[in-house]
Amino acid sequence: MVQINLPENSKVKKGKYYRDKTGSKNIRKVNVYRWDPSTGENPRIDTYEVDMDNCPSKVLDLLNKIKNEIDSSLTYRRSCSHGVCGSCAMNMDGKNGLACTKSHAEIQGDINIYPLPHLKVIKDLIGDLSILYRQYESIEPWLKNNSKKEKKEILQSREDRSKLDGLYECIMCACCSTACPSYWWNGDKYLGPAVLLQAYRWIIDSRDEERKERLKKVADELKLYRCHTIMNCTNACPKGLNPAKAIASIKKMLATT
Ligand code: SF4
Ligand code: SF4
Ligand code: FES
Repeated sequence: MVQINLPENSKVKKGKYYRDKTGSKNIRKVNVYRWDPSTGENPRIDTYEVDMDNCPSKVLDLLNKIKNEIDSSLTYRRSCSHGVCGSCAMNMDGKNGLACTKSHAEIQGDINIYPLPHLKVIKDLIGDLSILYRQYESIEPWLKNNSKKEKKEILQSREDRSKLDGLYECIMCACCSTACPSYWWNGDKYLGPAVLLQAYRWIIDSRDEERKERLKKVADELKLYRCHTIMNCTNACPKGLNPAKAIASIKKMLATT
């Protein structure tokens, strides 16, 4: 059997232990992935004892508490705190999700927090999404309609508008793409569920005039057909969307047009 070992500098080591200083009787241990490329050191897992009596309910509150009261060097993305911007996506308790909507009370035992899987790490909990954003740009996620200059608005029937439901809500958090095994292994070529759901959102928009060109652009062995309908993406979406269905719809449109 082939044995694959991680390079020595990729091994995640045991990090610092931050004991509670408040004397609280309600303590939880929070294990957080840490890596700072400027130090040249290996990644490590730091453990923080956190006083839960004075911590609001979400994992993001927990991280903010650690950053504000225990260790200001902890680095992560966040902005809206309301599940709207997608920036606080990370892996909590082994599952991708949004730290600002995930309740820490749902997690049994120690709370383990990692960056989204299979991304290059920029620092601590921040994954590098530049490939995903380039892929997003490649599908040209904007309305293409040449007649729009002559009209004040482009009308759409209620039925056509409803075809965007389950698509427009996507916040591009990347929880789905980073849960997809096909994207793990071919992330530079396969567009992945987040970008394909967005591609479908424009393909199916009745106001857009470039449906054929859009379909042609994604009809590619690597860009689209690397999806093997494993469904991890749909299970991972914190907004309850179904990227696997959107991908299947693109495949169906290609097969029938
Ligand atoms: S259904 Fe397709 S996109 Fe979703 S996890 Fe599986 S392979 Fe990835
Ligand atoms: S489909 Fe869901 S998981 Fe994927 S990027 Fe959009 S909101 Fe995030
Ligand atoms: S901070 Fe915006 S989605 Fe969590």
